[in-house]
Amino acid sequence: MPILVAGATGTVGGSLVRQLVEAGHEVRALTRNPESEAAAALPAGVEVVKGSFLEPQSLVPALRDVERMHLVSIEGSAENWAEMLELAKKAGVRRLTHLGHNDESKDDDHPLEAWHRQVHRAIEGSGLEWTHLFPGEFMANTWQWAESIKGKGEVRSPFGDWNSALVHEADIAAVAMVALLEDGHAGKTYQPTGPEPVRRRDAVRMIGEALGTEIRFVELTPDQARREWADVYPPDIIEWFLEMGTDYEGVGWVSPDVVEVTGRPGRTFAQWTREHAGDFR
Ligand SMILES: NC(=O)c1ccc[n+]([C@@H]2O[C@H](COP(=O)([O-])OP(=O)(O)OC[C@H]3O[C@@H](n4cnc5c(N)ncnc54)[C@H](OP(=O)(O)O)[C@@H]3O)[C@@H](O)[C@H]2O)c1
Repeated sequence: MPILVAGATGTVGGSLVRQLVEAGHEVRALTRNPESEAAAALPAGVEVVKGSFLEPQSLVPALRDVERMHLVSIEGSAENWAEMLELAKKAGVRRLTHLGHNDESKDDDHPLEAWHRQVHRAIEGSGLEWTHLFPGEFMANTWQWAESIKGKGEVRSPFGDWNSALVHEADIAAVAMVALLEDGHAGKTYQPTGPEPVRRRDAVRMIGEALGTEIRFVELTPDQARREWADVYPPDIIEWFLEMGTDYEGVGWVSPDVVEVTGRPGRTFAQWTREHAGDFR
């Protein structure tokens, strides 16, 4: 039976697909656009199926003969999750892993927190064996610096001392794979992080080391960041980033979950920079 992976063309889902295929599993990848370059780059043998969370009925072909699936929270899809999960149950799905975002922050009214919570409630009430994955900040988020590093040899960002246990996408995927394939993970929430906190300015330095060059870190004030990000992110996302950035409490926390679930230590940011150095050249 194929394992259905949503977000298969994305950072974590892509890694999950590769790890499942390497381990000899049959994988079906969900995408809105099977003609895309990202879909074409999926490993040989992966069945690519079209569907969108925004149109739950479009998922019916993808769910056929599936018992286990990996889903990812997609903004704008919250109201569809109950229907998606009902369709999945009808199709014979028993178990799912869900990549999303911790909703434990204090702000019940924040629209982003509210939609995350709506998705979590739908999953937890679905009657399926679910496992949530609420990772820390992705190492891959540093891709957002690639253009500036390539063009100007610098990174402009607020909060240089922000100290976060950045997590490798392959480790999040590895936790998902164990939860999909092995028993004992139903009803659990894992919070994969990297093995050590990395300050933002040090992350920039480490990318420079992998490239063999020095990269300047230009620390922005929150107001400068608002101006520089205005064309890149919607205003509510900018304020969410800045809110997170001003609350350093607990940020450097290292979760035991990658080690406990996979039995291996988490990959370091230095390793990630070596693997991805080409993306910054
Ligand atoms: N970045 C972080 O630091 C961080 C931290 C904690 C949690 N998270 C969570 O991680 C998740 C993002 O994971 P990621 O970075 O691996 O994703 P990503 O690289 O941004 O890729 C998003 C994936 O979602 C798929 N997708 C988008 N809209 C869709 C729709 N309407 N229906 C079905 N699939 C759709 C895309 O597939 P197609 O384009 O092929 O359709 C793509 O494969 C989010 O839930 C986020 O909250 C992120």
